[in-house]
Amino acid sequence: MNVLILGSGGREHAIAWKIAQSPILSKLFVAPGNPGTAQIATNIPCSLSDFEAIRATVITNHIDLVVVGPEVPLVEGLADFFFADDALKNIQFLGPDKHAAQLEGSKDFAKQFMMRHSIPTARYATFTQASIDEGIDFLKTLQAPYVLKADGLAAGKGVLILESLSEAEEALKTLLGGQFGDASARVVIEEFLTGVELSVFALTDGKDYVLLPEAKDYKRIGEGDTGLNTGGMGAVSPVPFADDAFMKKVEERVVKPTMSGIREENMRYTGFVFFGLINVGGDPFVIEYNCRMGDPETEVVMPRIASDVLPLFSAAASGTLSGMSPEKDSRAASTIMLVAGGYPEEYEKGNIISGLSEVQNSLVFHAGTKQSNEDIVTNGGRVLAITSYGHDIHDALRTSYENAGKINWKDKYYRRDLGQDL
Ligand code: AMP
Ligand code: GLY
Repeated sequence: MNVLILGSGGREHAIAWKIAQSPILSKLFVAPGNPGTAQIATNIPCSLSDFEAIRATVITNHIDLVVVGPEVPLVEGLADFFFADDALKNIQFLGPDKHAAQLEGSKDFAKQFMMRHSIPTARYATFTQASIDEGIDFLKTLQAPYVLKADGLAAGKGVLILESLSEAEEALKTLLGGQFGDASARVVIEEFLTGVELSVFALTDGKDYVLLPEAKDYKRIGEGDTGLNTGGMGAVSPVPFADDAFMKKVEERVVKPTMSGIREENMRYTGFVFFGLINVGGDPFVIEYNCRMGDPETEVVMPRIASDVLPLFSAAASGTLSGMSPEKDSRAASTIMLVAGGYPEEYEKGNIISGLSEVQNSLVFHAGTKQSNEDIVTNGGRVLAITSYGHDIHDALRTSYENAGKINWKDKYYRRDLGQDL
């Protein structure tokens, strides 16, 4: 099979690394890819909002399967574009259509879906500029801290957690006043849930599903889970508290009702369902859905799948997933994100990265890098993910930390406390 992966981050490099090992792969392309994917696949420069350019790439390279990494093209209707095109509609496409992708693209849509299917989640209500007074009244019925969410996609910045009622009222006004443009024209206010988060992933063909290994990511920039939220500073899999009893609750209360909801509502959903969960006193609640894999979770999830993923992805894209199941690698995997100093605020790009060839016993997934003549230079906030195996997540982290110390550039930063909470 010829496969095209869309995206350019550590997630896409990890997916490419896994697919590249498949005996049924002919040619692997990544658009636009990065210097890491260039080592194992053919990169094709392409903007993911340019659907015509994606179409040309698929046709020119005789692609059989498209795997979509990030959410934006899905929320913008890339699947619908494929289904509507005679030359594309029979190509296997792994990703939900525009309507189904609203599970990630609209917090209110996701909440209403959860209500319809009795899926445990925080109590909530949704407000617009016209109902701002009701919003303030609703805030008064909740206890601090207050959780406010821009309804639409806001590049990971749309969730605000406020300590006082007055700050929450101000934040509501600012959001509805257009802080994130259309994305915050509606705001979901919800009850704050206390617990440890984890990420659970299903792969579905719209009828059946398989669970992939679960993971926990580290969202905050600072050690001890302090400071600003980031895209993710590292991840581990398996998650120690996600034992069989807990995962059974996740499957019965969250995964199965979500999947039957998708079926009952005739959603056109192939691909990944990412359940962002929180463990509240032993019970799972849904914080959010995403219609794609997590990043950096993918950098530990792909290494923990022992069997070939290509037959699985192909079956998910073509509606024949029934009876299939991935084999798990019994080892643990951990990843550490090396980021540019200053991230998630202002940071420099273009700093030369050294030491990549000294890495031993770890996988290095490129997240934000660029080839510049002979050098690989930083080109994003999150730069490299260092993934290792171990007999447990702490053993895996030790190897990743040894290698994280060998890679250098000006202002490199990473959290040194991953796993210490577990
Ligand atoms: P989201 O973009 O929905 O994943 O939210 C970003 C982060 O905000 C989550 O990973 C949680 O850490 C936090 N968060 C979101 N909703 C809640 C909630 N209801 N209670 C506590 N924390 C939350
Ligand atoms: N690591 C969280 C996410 O991908 O949204």
